[in-house]
Amino acid sequence: MSQQALPPSWQHVGRHDVFPSSGHDDTARFDFLANLNGYLATRLSPKVRVAYDKRVKPAFEAAQGRAPETRHEVRKAMVGDPIYQTWSALRRSSMEMRQQAGRGLVLRQLAPLVEKARELNEGSPNLQLDPSVKVPRHVSAVDIHCMPGGYHTELVKDDISAGANYDAGIFATTGGMLGRFNDGGGQALAQWLKQEHPDFKPRRILDLGCTVGHNVVPLAQAFPDAEVIAVDVSAPMLRYGHARARSMGVDNLLFRQADAESLDYPDGHFDLISTAMFWHESSARSMPRTLQEVHRLLADGGLSANLEQPQYHGMDPYEAFVRDWDAYNNNEPFWSVMHEYDLRAMMAAAGFDDSRYFETTVAGVVDRSIFPEASNDGEDYGRAALWTMFGAWK
Ligand SMILES: C[S@@+](CC[C@H](N)C(=O)[O-])C[C@H]1O[C@@H](n2cnc3c(N)ncnc32)[C@H](O)[C@@H]1O
Repeated sequence: MSQQALPPSWQHVGRHDVFPSSGHDDTARFDFLANLNGYLATRLSPKVRVAYDKRVKPAFEAAQGRAPETRHEVRKAMVGDPIYQTWSALRRSSMEMRQQAGRGLVLRQLAPLVEKARELNEGSPNLQLDPSVKVPRHVSAVDIHCMPGGYHTELVKDDISAGANYDAGIFATTGGMLGRFNDGGGQALAQWLKQEHPDFKPRRILDLGCTVGHNVVPLAQAFPDAEVIAVDVSAPMLRYGHARARSMGVDNLLFRQADAESLDYPDGHFDLISTAMFWHESSARSMPRTLQEVHRLLADGGLSANLEQPQYHGMDPYEAFVRDWDAYNNNEPFWSVMHEYDLRAMMAAAGFDDSRYFETTVAGVVDRSIFPEASNDGEDYGRAALWTMFGAWK
């Protein structure tokens, strides 16, 4: 058996002025969860595949006279399998424990955290909240990926708890693969732009569904002369995100509470409109409208760049079934539907020229501060995510 690389300890998570204070027990909880997730992904998950190949698929074939053809057929065949049930139940428990660990950490110091954020936010022109913005149903109807209260719920005045909890736990959930500051997607996009399109110098950048700004901060840093606007409907995320960015010295980034479906900027206002892991948390009603808005807001020659997980088309039904786990077990209601869309057709329907559509993979940027060369064994904890990107030039 090869030597397993362990995920980096949570003690190395990137800290800033509004990051919650923590002690030994917090680190131990998050480290347990990162290692449990790693065990489930690299040790138990292959055994679930063996159960499928040796037990579940042959039984399906004996009954149906053919192999399962869709992820839905695989799922229905797998739900009764004891190894799948064990893996799935542990994954779900791990998601719930991650929320308990993050919320426990944040809620016990909520008053001083709110105060710290208030000091950084008060009077800043780079935070624009609008209480009249209605949180859409696709955000408010479920506790997305088991986050109690979702992104938008406020427990106290000027609340930032949802943002602080999100920021604190994602490093453990991803085993550090997004880097210390959980900004691997934005880093990857910035690097791709510089390498593949060195002459593209966006003057105005818009990021949709920014949450706490993890992936828009690297864009603001990569294009310091650009005016960068990050929108989200969830006020606690924006308050926290602005305070975080400010304490990290980023000052060309405006956090704005607005619905991405309809923004009050003129046609052609932006050169680059980015999203990171946004569309799978939209809805069948909202996504086409928002894509039309992206098309309207982009200048000629501008770029729509969207980081997501791979679409299911042409994928082995078993792999698609595993990737679909979140839709059925982790409160991701739009995940399954979104990953089977024909994105090229959707972009064309939104107004983009079909010939300017692209899909590609974008290599993540390895954060050497948590993955020093010596600990890389080239497997399992891959050190950086490989991103799927779709988009179009206008
Ligand atoms: C998965 S998170 C995106 C993660 C984030 N882009 C990042 O890089 O870390 C989805 C976010 O989209 C926001 N959202 C969903 N629908 C929206 C809409 N129509 N307009 C603005 N924000 C929206 C949610 O409030 C949530 O913060």
